[in-house]
Amino acid sequence: MNAAEPIVLEVKDLRAYLYTRWGVVRAVDGVSFALGEGETLGLVGESGCGKTMTGLSILRLLPEPAGRIVQGQVLLEGENLVTKSEAEMRRVRGRRISMILQDPQTSLNPVFTVGDQLVEALRMLHTDGERALSHRAEEALRRVKVAAPEQRMRAYPHQMSGGMKQRVVGAIAVAGEPRVLIADEPTTALDVTIQLQYLTLLKEIQARTRLAMLFITHDFGIVARMCDRVAVMYAGRIVESGPTRALFRNPRHPYTEALMASVPRMEASVERLPSIEGQPPPLHDLPVGCRFAPRCRYADDRCRREYPPTFPIGPAHEAACWRVEPSPSSR
Ligand SMILES: Nc1ncnc2c1ncn2[C@@H]1O[C@H](COP(=O)(O)OP(=O)(O)OP(=O)(O)O)[C@@H](O)[C@H]1O
Ligand SMILES: [Mg+2]
Repeated sequence: MNAAEPIVLEVKDLRAYLYTRWGVVRAVDGVSFALGEGETLGLVGESGCGKTMTGLSILRLLPEPAGRIVQGQVLLEGENLVTKSEAEMRRVRGRRISMILQDPQTSLNPVFTVGDQLVEALRMLHTDGERALSHRAEEALRRVKVAAPEQRMRAYPHQMSGGMKQRVVGAIAVAGEPRVLIADEPTTALDVTIQLQYLTLLKEIQARTRLAMLFITHDFGIVARMCDRVAVMYAGRIVESGPTRALFRNPRHPYTEALMASVPRMEASVERLPSIEGQPPPLHDLPVGCRFAPRCRYADDRCRREYPPTFPIGPAHEAACWRVEPSPSSR
């Protein structure tokens, strides 16, 4: 992160657990990162590693009653959200932090028109009358480049394409001019061309509003396009983070290395990502040492015994792996 950018969001040692009948699922288990104004941090990792739960805990929207934040801080412009009341959180959501979910289908209500849903979202933010709200809604659609917004206002979600719906969701998310946007795989449901347009749109909104973005994705192509920095998550923790370019050029955690190796090259017509051998450990039954050790080809006894601390690698680049421990002479 550029040191000149003021930090907007800082997450410190966040732990969010789900109390299920199988046991305690440590979905977020000591996650820390900071996000600067106008910056995009990519959060990547295999399915089930805790990316969505990280986003939901920041907004205090964990599944009820199973989910609970058990430790840590979420500092939004210095204010800790973890200790806020539900009423206070309602004034934070949508206004200061917003989230776009993976599937626009689940974010829009099929029985109301797009206009109604936008107006309802805007009503939470403004004290205007109906006419003015309706005007604002049209404006919001125009800003996310929906053509003929006055007609679209009367459409129902099922009458719109996936890309169009995701634009509407985006319009709702940024209507309150939040400082932080958490985008949870916002383009997964879209085809490639529409995906690209949507990503460009998010970048434009960000350039205009200096939004700080936490961008959750599986896709390293999207990371390269969108993110200034990347955090790689494995089994509830961030195992490596750094500037995008440094991480691509010099991945140091064996898990990052394996993820990178599984990225198909542009020229190859690979339909599916070759996956990393083995499975991540279940989050309700984690090994004592490094969580990646059972799948790691470099793992030794210490790895299986002790979880490695985070070691510095380069400017803003660090990894939690015993292999990157600086030798005593270089410390
Ligand atoms: N409602 C729930 N109740 C219990 N456990 C849950 C619930 N939702 C998610 N989990 C568990 O929490 C863990 C983290 O899930 P999360 O959705 O954050 O993963 P993710 O990294 O976003 O995965 P994906 O890439 O598939 O979206 C998983 O082990 C998941 O099984
Ligand atoms: Mg998810």
